[in-house]
Amino acid sequence: MPLPQYARLVEVGPRDGLQNEAQPISVADKVRLVDDLTAAGLSYIEVGSFVSPKWVPQMAGSAEVFAAIGQRAGVTYAALAPNLRGFEDAVAAGVREVAVFAAASEAFSQRNINCSISDSLKRFEPIMEAARAQGIRVRGYVSCVLGCPYQGTVLAEQVAPVAKALYDMGCYEVSLGDTIGTGTAGDTRRLFEVVSAQVPREQLAGHFHDTYGQALANVYASLLEGISVFDSSVAGLGGCPYAKGATGNVATEDVVYLLQGLGIDTGIDLGRLVAAGERISGILGRHNGSRVARARRAQ
Ligand code: HMG
Ligand code: MG
Repeated sequence: MPLPQYARLVEVGPRDGLQNEAQPISVADKVRLVDDLTAAGLSYIEVGSFVSPKWVPQMAGSAEVFAAIGQRAGVTYAALAPNLRGFEDAVAAGVREVAVFAAASEAFSQRNINCSISDSLKRFEPIMEAARAQGIRVRGYVSCVLGCPYQGTVLAEQVAPVAKALYDMGCYEVSLGDTIGTGTAGDTRRLFEVVSAQVPREQLAGHFHDTYGQALANVYASLLEGISVFDSSVAGLGGCPYAKGATGNVATEDVVYLLQGLGIDTGIDLGRLVAAGERISGILGRHNGSRVARARRAQ
């Protein structure tokens, strides 16, 4: 399969990244991060979550963040919604694209959203209906596609029906998440081979956490499978509050560098992106998880 000519990056740093930070982060710092990412040319930014603040305290204040960011025409500013209440809160905050999230593992579904996989899918139905009525696009996530922190092995055959259910209910794209970052390039190729029999490759995305240092290899393996949409976090921010020990997503800077080397266009200004990652890492007092950013700093 030829490599794609263009790839789209979904920047999840302000959500997947910041949701996992131990220290409080001000609304102003979140807004600055999103504005920096807009300036760097990201076309899709996941800004926050409308989830229970008791479950994920760092995402409280997402409405204030939405109210204060500078929105550039043509850029999608999205938020996570776990239920109808979250969807309605998101819409009230001016959000025009939401993401729902399910899991391929029952144990993770219970720990993350307190219900079974099938109950979670039922919970999304009214969101899909309301979204259709209001012209709001919905993206779907499946977590634990290459392993579960509670259940261990997850087969591609367990992922495919969940991805298909999300696609069939109206998610325009389904992002497959290696939540704990244990997957290898071989696992990734097999995953997309199996799932693409149920959901077209053009409607699938890859979401790789870098716990085992495999995320960039998994992005490349996905490209070989004809996947051209990837979720990533500036400076490799993040983890998952319900997947202990999982590190951040693959760093956006590193994915951009990989894609540039393959002649695949993203429309992102790598210099400005590196600066955005350096700034937020400084604010958080955190090691910058992007190898590209660290190499550039050393030059
Ligand atoms: P629950 O306790 O079963 O829900 O939680 P409930 O309906 O019984 O409500 C409990 C309380 O939460 C009530 O408040 C509700 O009002 C409130 P109380 O009466 O106790 O004061 N509540 C809400 N508050 C704000 N916004 C809402 C909302 N809904 C209820 N939308 C629930 C169920 C889904 C709410 C909870 O489990 C939750 O919020 N979970 C979110 C977990 C989460 O955000 N995880 C991280 C994102 S997923 C991820 O990172 C993976 C991904 O990156 C892909 C990958 O890497 O694999 C996407
Ligand atoms: Mg994630």
